Amino acid sequence: MKNIALITGASSGIGKELARIHAINGGDIVIVARREDELENLKIDLEKTYKIKVLVISLDLSIYGAGTALVNEVEKRGLEIDYLMNNAGFGGYGEFHIRDLEKEKEMIRLNITACVEITHGILQGMIKRKKGKILNTASVAGFLPGPLQAVYFASKAFVVSFSQAIDQEVKPYGITVTALCPGPVVTEFQNVAGMKDNRLFSKRAKSARYVALIGYRAMLKGRLVAITEKSLSVFINGILSFMPRRSVLKLIQKLQKQ
Ligand SMILES: NC(=O)c1ccc[n+]([C@@H]2O[C@H](COP(=O)([O-])OP(=O)(O)OC[C@H]3O[C@@H](n4cnc5c(N)ncnc54)[C@H](OP(=O)(O)O)[C@@H]3O)[C@@H](O)[C@H]2O)c1
Repeated sequence: MKNIALITGASSGIGKELARIHAINGGDIVIVARREDELENLKIDLEKTYKIKVLVISLDLSIYGAGTALVNEVEKRGLEIDYLMNNAGFGGYGEFHIRDLEKEKEMIRLNITACVEITHGILQGMIKRKKGKILNTASVAGFLPGPLQAVYFASKAFVVSFSQAIDQEVKPYGITVTALCPGPVVTEFQNVAGMKDNRLFSKRAKSARYVALIGYRAMLKGRLVAITEKSLSVFINGILSFMPRRSVLKLIQKLQKQ
């Protein structure tokens, strides 16, 4: 395999589109998620259409240590990862004290721990080769506290912060880290999060292809943060800093209420 991208959460949504874009660019791919059948179907499609090689690894990354297990599997196969896209993640709606604690802990293990383990493991080879690009799918949720999705927003704040700090550290080695920060996107995310009828996912939501393309291009350019919508960028980088914290919390809660 050559020009290899390791993409987590590739069985649907943004990750699936990232895989397709990398295939269009002629790169081979390691695709990871739990649903093996979805991954196998994608492999057949991409290999046939774009004449590239795809390796399927079916894995539950929310299991403690699964990120390290994935890195070990990649090393065992002698694969040199040129592009790492930490994209697997999920959210969950509801007041924190009512939500199932186990689900919140699972979210932290997937959205944070797996991302940290995989990044740490894959960086070892990238540093040696002095080459590599990392794209972490965060969210605009990473710039705000999120009443009614408290743990999810906080997990994405981790990804935004972590990605930028690592970028600064690995820049001397020729490696870049980009945080992809979308607003609402039409994927399986909203159903998984229990937000099927939420107005955030109205007509304004972007397609997974649109968001993946912005993320992929930002990764190639080595951009630090890619907010996928101009209006959200203006809000986060401008308006937000002038708003009292209580007003921000009230606004986010109101926007999310269903
Ligand atoms: N959709 C949005 O509005 C939105 C907005 C901002 C950021 N994001 C972020 O974008 C990323 C991709 O989400 P999406 O919108 O494309 O949603 P999605 O369609 O639900 O995709 C999530 C992907 O993660 C995988 N995944 C979930 N749990 C997993 C686990 N335990 N182990 C391994 N893989 C797992 C899923 O595959 P399996 O189910 O097969 O495991 C799937 O491939 C997430 O990090 C999400 O937080 C989404």
